[in-house]
Amino acid sequence: MDHSSNGIGNDESELYHAQLHLYKHIYSFISSMALKSAVELGIADVIHNHGKPMTLTELASSLKLHPSKINVLYRFMRLLTHNGLFAKTTAIKKKTGGDQEEEEETTYALTPPSKLLVRGASTCLASLAGGVAVIQVAMDADSQMFKLALKDCKHVFEGLESLVDVGGGTGVVAKLIHEVFPDIKYTVLDQPQVVGNLTGNKYLNFVGGDMFKSIPQADAVLLKWVLHDWNDELCLKILKNSKEAISGKGKDGKVIIIDMSIDETSDDRDLTELQLNFDMVMLTLFNGKEREKKEWEKLIYDAGFSSYKITPIWGFKSLIEVYP
Ligand SMILES: C[S@@+](CC[C@H](N)C(=O)[O-])C[C@H]1O[C@@H](n2cnc3c(N)ncnc32)[C@H](O)[C@@H]1O
Repeated sequence: MDHSSNGIGNDESELYHAQLHLYKHIYSFISSMALKSAVELGIADVIHNHGKPMTLTELASSLKLHPSKINVLYRFMRLLTHNGLFAKTTAIKKKTGGDQEEEEETTYALTPPSKLLVRGASTCLASLAGGVAVIQVAMDADSQMFKLALKDCKHVFEGLESLVDVGGGTGVVAKLIHEVFPDIKYTVLDQPQVVGNLTGNKYLNFVGGDMFKSIPQADAVLLKWVLHDWNDELCLKILKNSKEAISGKGKDGKVIIIDMSIDETSDDRDLTELQLNFDMVMLTLFNGKEREKKEWEKLIYDAGFSSYKITPIWGFKSLIEVYP
């Protein structure tokens, strides 16, 4: 019998924590759904456009909610606030009744995560948080985040005359790198249905093609968020074609991969959980995978490269430099 101060025995305490842990994971989808609903309702946009934190009544009125729903909105905002999407602040208002007395009123403000949900901002992830159905829009939104990360991986682009962005979508990333490296000639290779109607310019060329067949020649190949879509066999094809594409540059060519590298032993359990969740998404949507360091190493050496270097760059992604 345990006589600890809370009166709960060790076994009971363990059981209690076990139950809590299980329930947390069983119901965590509700937090995802709440975030999705917040994006659909445009709560972050409403608060942003208001220009200052909003009371519940102001929020309900902007969202055109019936007054009877205000308590539901309160509970909804309570969950989102607990999850760090909004922050509670206070405003002073005159008491109703005419005298000079004042009282405090709760208001809701944006937090750094919900600032990323404001539509029209340069780094807006609303389409990502709103669901995975709009993949191209979501990819473009995520690529905007790359702008911030570019300063951490500038060195890999230095000295390049040409770069082919394989699976480069609508060229968002190529355009961002161009802002920092205006002298590089960029080629964006993607499927004909993605780039067919896009026109390039003197520094950017769109090529409709198939990375499993061939990749245009360049000093370097960029594979950003591409390899995690594919199984090892298909990744090997892409990597071998990438090696061929940089062969004209001899030992100075390189392949630049931006993807996740899972480290299960990391102290950052939230980061690892996010990466492992992504792995399940890749598995179920594309039969793809998020890889651990040893899996990257095997792929890279099997494709015939001689060395590589993995550096975590921003959030949950890593820069993987691969050399012939
Ligand atoms: C996950 S998205 C990555 C987009 C971009 N690299 C980024 O980070 O925003 C994968 C891209 O690969 C392209 N893709 C798929 N199959 C392809 C193929 N066989 N050849 C070339 N591109 C392909 C898709 O059209 C899509 O744009």
